[in-house]
Amino acid sequence: MSLVEVTNISYKYPNGYLAVDDVSFSIEAGENIAIIGQNGAGKTTTVKMLNGLMKPCAGDVLIHGESTKNHTTAQIARKVGYVFQNPDDQIFNPTVYKEIEYGLKKQKLTMSECEDRIKEAASLTGMTDYLGVNPYDLPLSIRKFVTIASVIASNCDVMIFDEPTAGQDLDGLNRLSGLNRILTKSGKAIVTITHDMEFVADNYERVIVMCRKKVIADGYARDVFFQKDIMDRAMLKQPAIVRIAEGAGLQGNILDVQEMAAACRVYDFSTNKL
Ligand SMILES: Nc1ncnc2c1ncn2[C@@H]1O[C@H](COP(=O)(O)OP(=O)(O)OP(=O)(O)O)[C@@H](O)[C@H]1O
Ligand SMILES: [Mg+2]
Repeated sequence: MSLVEVTNISYKYPNGYLAVDDVSFSIEAGENIAIIGQNGAGKTTTVKMLNGLMKPCAGDVLIHGESTKNHTTAQIARKVGYVFQNPDDQIFNPTVYKEIEYGLKKQKLTMSECEDRIKEAASLTGMTDYLGVNPYDLPLSIRKFVTIASVIASNCDVMIFDEPTAGQDLDGLNRLSGLNRILTKSGKAIVTITHDMEFVADNYERVIVMCRKKVIADGYARDVFFQKDIMDRAMLKQPAIVRIAEGAGLQGNILDVQEMAAACRVYDFSTNKL
């Protein structure tokens, strides 16, 4: 049984707009997955159905084999944590400490367990120095890490990060890469929505491509990024390294700098041959 099983889900907003149409995929423990797609493709709507914020109008989402239809959002949120695309839709406590603590209140933890979780989540996300600060005195890029810390502290089996790369500098991106590695290593499934194709190429083995309400590809980044028809259809730019590899006619679906360097060492630029 998969950790998450999404079967033929669709979602219609109250105004009648169909935002997600017949989407299926599954998620296993320890997987690190990127969901990519143009604006309005239906990415956020899809992941909100994974943690019960929205219930599908058709199809089903099973978490550990149990349908989200039979559980409240609060019950599902203990298993599937969601970091909102806009942190300001999530944050309402007066300090970073209280914000991280909030989600833990409904879990039956002792005070010291609670404190340990908060400190660990703050340390992992680089929030330790900000624990006493009002989140709204911090820049948006840091507020995003406050919301990520809240979800990490809740220790859910699945953690969904909606556009964590937006507005992040290199330090923020490196921190996100490190978090992905640590969390997946400990068995968590991480699902990240992002528009940063370079970040995806560097950090994710599996990508799910959404286009106009549907999943149009689900596979290894190494394969999907080289399917130009899929990338074009989804209005996505191939990562620079993929465009260079294709332009130079290099074999082997090169996706990282080490592989590119190795291919260049054996490439004869005078004859354009390996
Ligand atoms: N509350 C709503 N009522 C009606 N339509 C909505 C609502 N929220 C989103 N939509 C529409 O549903 C579609 C999918 O939205 P969604 O937020 O899931 O896209 P997305 O892939 O996350 O896009 P982005 O990359 O811009 O975040 C969009 O056309 C959007 O305008
Ligand atoms: Mg979105």
